[in-house]
Amino acid sequence: VSFRLAPGPKGRPFIGNLYDVFPDTNNNYLRLFAEYGPVMNLSILGNESLNTNDPEVAEIWAKESDYYTKKVVQPLSEVKPIGGNGLFTSDTDDMDWKLAHKLLMPAFSPRAVKAYQKEMGEITAQAIKVFDEYAPDEKFEILNWTTNITFETIGRVGFGYDFHLLDQGKNVKPHPFIEAMSYTLKQVITRNLQAQFMKRLPLEQNRRFDQSLALMHGIIEQVIAERKAAGPRGAGQERDLLDYMLTAQSEEGDKLSDELIRDQVNTFLIAGHDTSANTLSFVLYELSRHPEIKAKVLQEIANAGINHTDYPTSEQISQLKYLHMVIKETLRLYSPLRLLTKYCKKDNVLPGGFVVKAGTTVQINSGAMHRNPKVYPNPHAFDPERFSPEEEQKRSSYAWLPFSTGPRACIGMALALQEIKTVLAMCLHKFDFIYHETEPIAIDPSSPTQKPLHLFMTVQKRTNF
Ligand code: HEM
Repeated sequence: VSFRLAPGPKGRPFIGNLYDVFPDTNNNYLRLFAEYGPVMNLSILGNESLNTNDPEVAEIWAKESDYYTKKVVQPLSEVKPIGGNGLFTSDTDDMDWKLAHKLLMPAFSPRAVKAYQKEMGEITAQAIKVFDEYAPDEKFEILNWTTNITFETIGRVGFGYDFHLLDQGKNVKPHPFIEAMSYTLKQVITRNLQAQFMKRLPLEQNRRFDQSLALMHGIIEQVIAERKAAGPRGAGQERDLLDYMLTAQSEEGDKLSDELIRDQVNTFLIAGHDTSANTLSFVLYELSRHPEIKAKVLQEIANAGINHTDYPTSEQISQLKYLHMVIKETLRLYSPLRLLTKYCKKDNVLPGGFVVKAGTTVQINSGAMHRNPKVYPNPHAFDPERFSPEEEQKRSSYAWLPFSTGPRACIGMALALQEIKTVLAMCLHKFDFIYHETEPIAIDPSSPTQKPLHLFMTVQKRTNF
């Protein structure tokens, strides 16, 4: 193989490949990879990056190594003002990341996550009461409810804090934190395409960005203050995330500073609910479009003895193997995070002979990799059988990265999967969720996480259970 530079579409002066990628990013990336191959150079408004849709290259970039690491560079750096030095938006080389990662890993261990099972059942039972209020022909945006459910979950299992979104009936307003957060996240897209100085001008959008952040910080400080006032959780109670953060100490005696705890709580409130809410909505959507798959899921729920009134045990949830495949297939097609941004520390050469210089931003385009026809034949079709143990064995384990992998993988994966399964198993036992259109659902172009745009559904009580 001869050494060479990665190809890419020719850019225009200053804006580079802006219009090759935006606004229809999902489709444009698929088109560009089909044209330029698995390693592609893109330059957008002066930010240059190498991009891949290939599991072999993804494996090299995703692993923390002497060559590649996670570093908060553009576009991820636009999330930094929101996440601060929390786990999501700190460099692997940063002492804050190392300390928090070490101190918080135990809070996400399988044992710790199992302790949240009962609370997840309680939360779902509350949500079921809300769904019960809807008339059988009453359409509503399902994402609002999956959002309320996952936000309550992280609030309660993470911080022992009830946001009261599930005990006020179907007309409850969105929580101010969620509204403020949505604004700041939408600004990530706008700001990513703006020159640096624009973000410091006294513009309405900057003022609202700062106000939204201040509102979020205010709510977080209240959550922390309430716990500090109440003292540590009582004997016999499992520690939650906040307990870990307030009491954890490394062998060297290092603790998390107050500011860092605030950033971590913020990070968990955001990362802990938005992604799971999107996933829940997309599963309900795909099940509605695939009655034969839904029937298999229902059979499995029945076989596990799960119903909508008793809280399922972790033992029962672990029996939902087919539902697990359905969720994996949903995350393949609709990964909430479609880009994993990494950074090259040391010159090296990729398979295919592509030269990568130290200082280059590299992006695993998981969104495009998950629809790469060389990896997933007939890539746009929804087919959970792709994730049967036999089929999975045929693929690289780096071909499916909705949670990333390695030390910088999602710390909340086990929690998210347990939550999604609990909500689906109990809700599907009682209700049929129906999407009435034949057109596929559109993706919200204004959100950096992948969300369905106006996914209206109805809920109907089952008669056959
Ligand atoms: C990191 C996806 C749920 C907390 C990540 C990353 C991905 C991801 C792809 C890596 C990002 C990167 O490389 O830049 C998801 C998906 C979820 C989910 C698809 C649900 C379906 C959760 C939940 C929590 C959480 C429930 C918390 C309770 C975090 C944190 C990080 C992270 C703190 C940063 C970890 C680190 O770098 O140390 N997530 N996530 N996520 N996620 Fe999740």
